[in-house]
Amino acid sequence: MQPGLFISFEGIDGAGKSTHISALAQAFKAQGRAVTLTREPGGTPLAEKLRSLVLQDAMDPLTEALLMFAARRDHLDCVILPALARGDVVLCDRFTDATFAYQGGGRGFDEEVLSQLERMVQTSPDQAALVQPALTLWFDLAPQEAAKRLAGVRVPDKFESQPLAFFQRVAQGYARRQRKDPERFARIDAAQTQSSVWDAVLAVCVAKGWLA
Ligand code: TYD
Repeated sequence: MQPGLFISFEGIDGAGKSTHISALAQAFKAQGRAVTLTREPGGTPLAEKLRSLVLQDAMDPLTEALLMFAARRDHLDCVILPALARGDVVLCDRFTDATFAYQGGGRGFDEEVLSQLERMVQTSPDQAALVQPALTLWFDLAPQEAAKRLAGVRVPDKFESQPLAFFQRVAQGYARRQRKDPERFARIDAAQTQSSVWDAVLAVCVAKGWLA
């Protein structure tokens, strides 16, 4: 059995990560891997309920951060850790970097408190180290470009309806997370054409030896 592989997908709203998540799932399946495709906040019945609250209802920043981590804890326990134990490739649309970028960068919430919550939620009794993705594909796009792509596409949720300055802070939050853990991050230039972005995603996985 091959060991499980945990990959997360990050970027500001409108950066265009979603199409590449399903394409990467197909690429792994084509090579015989079992894939668990999931998302945050969400991925379990409880976490999906928390998702609809946190994406729609106004709340103070601490409540928002706690709900993100509560959803994450349930998701890790019920979906991510069991899938990794089975040897699946887990492709997760957003994970903790989004909390640092949106609640930390965007909302200005204390990142030291977020680090404490991260340690609390992502340490399991049988694992000494923090549970983190082996790879985080960060779809980096200028907030102005992302706003243009999102305009008129659908009814915006609580985060999508934030002003440009919010997304500039979110983008800076992602950049800070990358600087703290450059080995884990692969920055993808999301301003390229969709097919060039896909080539870049594939190239990262091939370079890691995960795809032929
Ligand atoms: P998103 O992943 O963009 O899904 P969709 O494509 O269906 O809109 O939406 C999730 C939103 O939640 C996004 O705006 C980012 C936000 N978010 C946080 O603020 N903190 C978090 O920890 C996570 C996981 C997401």
